[in-house]
Amino acid sequence: MTTADEQKRAVGEAAAALVEDGMTVGLGTGSTAAQMVRALGMRVKTERLRLRCVATSDATAALGVGVGLDLVELDAAGRIDLTLDGADEIGPDLALLKGGGAALLREKLVWEASRRCIVISDASKVVGRLGRFPLPVEVVAFGHASTATRLAAAAREAGITAEPRLRAHQGATVSTDGGNVIYDVSCGVIPEPARLAAALDHITGVVEHGLFLKLADGALIAGPEGVRWLHG
Ligand code: A5P
Repeated sequence: MTTADEQKRAVGEAAAALVEDGMTVGLGTGSTAAQMVRALGMRVKTERLRLRCVATSDATAALGVGVGLDLVELDAAGRIDLTLDGADEIGPDLALLKGGGAALLREKLVWEASRRCIVISDASKVVGRLGRFPLPVEVVAFGHASTATRLAAAAREAGITAEPRLRAHQGATVSTDGGNVIYDVSCGVIPEPARLAAALDHITGVVEHGLFLKLADGALIAGPEGVRWLHG
């Protein structure tokens, strides 16, 4: 039996093995992506790979620099060859729920600038329907409570009764790398993710949401038996 940490390390190493010399690589955020970043740093050292990497958060950038990766800004990177990132839930057709690490905005920007995106996780994240994990929504700090009211109304129109909760840690409101706040929306089950995404896309004050639809090209999933591929 492997532990959760061992599975994260195994899938991180399998993901890092996909990277080829000369690539521009998008680096995800979270504990699984961190394992991939460490494994990639090891490959750069031992195989002398020449890579350019784009980080999806300040935390990942710091880790990347620490393990010897060359970081470039998204605007300097041009097209990204391959992005490797974790998720909070992986649903049918590789529809994803992301943002548990509050990095969803930069993650989506990097994913959308990438030729190929591979999501990496352990098997516990694979679900029949999205929504058990509260959906993170990044909101502009100015007037955020008023935006949250419209957020709840939009969710209702998409068939979901939910109370958006402002994310806080140790009593302090969480601020994203972009200076925004996060509302976690407990949906239960999201019957039609595309419908909810479309509704959220039109709310003034909502910067981005954690539904990543039609963005993942494949998934590497770790379980007790090893790492396997999951395709949409
Ligand atoms: C970061 O904002 C998220 O999208 C992460 O990818 C997600 O929370 C996965 O994190 P873990 O690998 O730590 O579960």
